[in-house]
Amino acid sequence: VIITEKNIGDWAAVYVAKKILDAKPTAEKPFVLGLPTGGTPLAMYKRLIQFYQDGIISFENVVTFNMDEYVGLSPANDQSYHYYMYENFFKHIDAKEENINILNGLATDYKKECEDYEAKIKAIGGIDLFLGGIGPDGHIAFNEPGSSLSSRTRDKELTMDTIIANARFFGGDIDRVPKLSLTVGVGTILDAKEVLIMVNGHNKARALHHAVEQGVNHMWTISALQLHPKGIIVSDEAACTEL
Ligand code: GLP
Repeated sequence: VIITEKNIGDWAAVYVAKKILDAKPTAEKPFVLGLPTGGTPLAMYKRLIQFYQDGIISFENVVTFNMDEYVGLSPANDQSYHYYMYENFFKHIDAKEENINILNGLATDYKKECEDYEAKIKAIGGIDLFLGGIGPDGHIAFNEPGSSLSSRTRDKELTMDTIIANARFFGGDIDRVPKLSLTVGVGTILDAKEVLIMVNGHNKARALHHAVEQGVNHMWTISALQLHPKGIIVSDEAACTEL
């Protein structure tokens, strides 16, 4: 069976929608979602918007926490993850502003911003489902190779590999890519009740191999998913070529 990228997005969207519907979230007991950016999840967001427009699902009682943000980019900057999230998802659904959480890339006190984010996640009772993608070097959120597998939300320098990989969103100019990010930690992600990672394309094949066929290793932070009791990977044919 050839699974296309579109199907990955569809599969993930159906999974997310079912989880939300089953949870029957209320204002008092919302469903808590961890959300990613990048090219990979776009198809999922499109499909979720369609579910909302078709009246199948509501996001009124869904609280979201985004994984990461570039330091130095304002929400109005079209390369910020804030901008991405509103453009590609939030402005098309019935998400309540007060339920949306994204790390502030303009925060000057990184430590406080990150500690407050962790505290907010804890106060709401943790994340029910954390969605993510991976970088070609196996990073999850911005937990670059070498990140502690018990790391929490913090500032993290981008590796040159990631700067090069993400330069495509900055007109191909590596000088325009921010060098620092705020990101949830590997430990923060592993604390979620469930983690679903989407992987597509040949350039992720090596990372997927390390994720599932090699040992748990802080140089391939996605491999920490092996420690999770409910870790799910949904991938296309191209990403599976090294399995
Ligand atoms: C960035 C993000 C990651 C994302 C990765 C892959 O580095 N911080 O969360 O998984 O890009 O993005 P793409 O899906 O565009 O390949």
